[in-house]
Amino acid sequence: MVKTQDKLLNKPFFLKEINEQPKALANTLAQYLAPNFQLKMAKPPLDDQTIKKINKAYITACGTSYHAALTARYIIEELAQLPTVVEPASECGRHQLLVDESTLAVAVSQSGRSRDTLAAMELAKRRGAATLALVNEAPSPLSRLASGYLMTLAGKVDTLSSTKAFTSQTLVLGLMGLRLAQSRGLMREKWRDEIEKIGRLPELVRHALSYEDQVVAISERLMGFEHVFILASGPLLPMAFEGALKLKEVGKIHAEGYITGEFGHGPLAMVGPRTPVIMISFADDGDRSLDLAAEFKDRGAPLFLISEDGLNLDHNLARHSELFLPVPQAPSRMRAVVTIIHLQLMAYHLGRLKGLDVDNTGGLIRSAMANHVVAPEKTNGLVEPRLTSA
Ligand code: M6R
Repeated sequence: MVKTQDKLLNKPFFLKEINEQPKALANTLAQYLAPNFQLKMAKPPLDDQTIKKINKAYITACGTSYHAALTARYIIEELAQLPTVVEPASECGRHQLLVDESTLAVAVSQSGRSRDTLAAMELAKRRGAATLALVNEAPSPLSRLASGYLMTLAGKVDTLSSTKAFTSQTLVLGLMGLRLAQSRGLMREKWRDEIEKIGRLPELVRHALSYEDQVVAISERLMGFEHVFILASGPLLPMAFEGALKLKEVGKIHAEGYITGEFGHGPLAMVGPRTPVIMISFADDGDRSLDLAAEFKDRGAPLFLISEDGLNLDHNLARHSELFLPVPQAPSRMRAVVTIIHLQLMAYHLGRLKGLDVDNTGGLIRSAMANHVVAPEKTNGLVEPRLTSA
């Protein structure tokens, strides 16, 4: 049993920030919600006039912010019907970048200072894109560079391992998807319903935090292993990537996030009694998860299932798994954010059980955070980022 008293007395920043997420989300949401289910988001480049000129979105970021960016594709493509490309900022310009005046280019960064993210935004701006920054710190180099910026109100960030900024970024990107849909004349009937659902997010996350004891049980079991796979698909896939990043960074276990449907095309070879798998799978995910779970069982691999609370434990997926970590029931679009809470807590408990300093993980390269501006240089159609002094 996790002792609340112990946590309060001696709480590392990382755990504190995990627990601050309901507040961070509520504050962030409050800033964008207006009475009568309206959104306060119609400033350039999210004004009607600019949105009318846009026929695609390009979203870029680094690390955890990149994983938040990945979530935007699902919502923008589905609700706003805009083709959306998401890529790590360090890859921007290392291929033929199809960004122009008809592109909304969004750069996501907690600090507003990551070197590669600044370089990508600079490049998109030079190509004439409508540029938007999503930052937790403003003014910052990124908020100054873009033609407009949105903010997460995650509050002061004291640890370099991002949690509350990540879920707040995911929330704002979801709201941005709604705003794009609204301005494009879509979503008329479903609008109120979607806003109501999003309004429940802080409470759902608070509920997810109450499952900590079950997370501790899986973390203790993972202590005996050096590797773990995390599988997911669709809108939950970015959570597998982000969960794996946190498990590596804070829990110091080699973790790999993978697409469920791709796993049986080679990586399965790694799975056995020494290689556990965490599978994120909800009832509507289909047979693919089931087929894989049966394979894992045959190979003697421990399977830990993350799925919706209330899942029938006679369900084959639950029967194949050694431990089940329930996610509070949530509207499907909210599931991703609610699910990542478990993986953040798992990273924390792994670090704690290993006696590590979870606030000083050594996971970030200092030069990437340096306060530099970046001037991309064009060579043969490709762009090489170049550092200059700020
Ligand atoms: O400040 P940024 O969001 O631009 O930082 C980008 C990454 O360095 C950052 O998200 C990093 O991956 C996380 N802090 C790791 O938890």
